[in-house]
Amino acid sequence: MDGLEMLREQGVDGTLIRQVGEFRREHAVAEEVRDRVLEPALPFFGREILEMAIAALLQGENLLLTGAKATGKNILAENLAWLFGRPAYNISFHVNIGSAELIGTDTFVDNHVELRKGSIYRCAQYGGFGILDEINMAKNDAVSVLHATLDFRREIDVPGYDRISLDDAARFIGTMNYGYAGTRELNEALVSRFLVIDMPPQNEETLMLILCRLFPDAKRESLKQFAGLFLDLQQKSGNGEISTKALDLRGIIAALKTVRCGLPPKKAVEMGIVNKCFDLFERDIVSDVVMTRIPEKWGREDIFM
Ligand SMILES: Nc1ncnc2c1ncn2[C@@H]1O[C@H](COP(=O)(O)OP(=O)(O)OP(=O)(O)O)[C@@H](O)[C@H]1O
Ligand SMILES: [Mg+2]
Repeated sequence: MDGLEMLREQGVDGTLIRQVGEFRREHAVAEEVRDRVLEPALPFFGREILEMAIAALLQGENLLLTGAKATGKNILAENLAWLFGRPAYNISFHVNIGSAELIGTDTFVDNHVELRKGSIYRCAQYGGFGILDEINMAKNDAVSVLHATLDFRREIDVPGYDRISLDDAARFIGTMNYGYAGTRELNEALVSRFLVIDMPPQNEETLMLILCRLFPDAKRESLKQFAGLFLDLQQKSGNGEISTKALDLRGIIAALKTVRCGLPPKKAVEMGIVNKCFDLFERDIVSDVVMTRIPEKWGREDIFM
């Protein structure tokens, strides 16, 4: 599937879809980075969010996706790169990353100095989509590179390096999470370089689309209990009764996979969800929620056909 079909299925505005098609035709991808144009594991579900994101990117804007855990920020960013047919560059700011990794470092090749290009440099050069993951965790050295990269002049001018022009097709998509303990605010000058999408919390409809797509061999009614489990935990975490540790859609998906290969559902959910809470009081609350949704006596055959 080329991605545009997925947009039509979700009822995305036809004018936007046509313009994405035009964007692709106008911007070829260099042979050496073809392998970076990757189809994501799952389509992103959410018509309105897709429309907002596509319109912004078509206008040459950069996007900042903010929101709680598991709201689909990364899967959206990956889908956008795929839809626009661009090579994707994932850059995580959670680790200690600075201008050397982003722009490049001098290295010796055959007795002369050459710049080993960093990820932002290559993204700019090849017209990639740079996914700036957890951008609010960027250290000062990286922030100054980002300021230059995201500037409207579309030229990266970092002292000590050559000036780099951004390819027409290059875009940057930042993600940030304000749920985790220890996350930082993004500085105002950096925020002003983005259009911002605040990702909504999950609802039953989207959760069921995700689960049914990943587990077509499961019983709908049972998947509803897993979606319900996530929503119960989301509500408890929203009320401040528990942290976001147990609010883990990846954990629920992983649990279902282990059930499919034979593990009892209760044990699977323990590994995927319950044991992620290290606080005993919190773990009790989460166990109680699990018990109301996933009966202890359930086996594989209660979930999979
Ligand atoms: N709207 C959605 N459409 C498709 N998949 C989704 C959606 N929302 C969440 N998911 C799924 O939920 C899981 C977590 O998504 P993702 O990693 O994109 O979230 P995130 O917002 O980046 O979370 P975090 O803040 O933990 O980094 C993935 O398996 C993803 O496929
Ligand atoms: Mg993420």
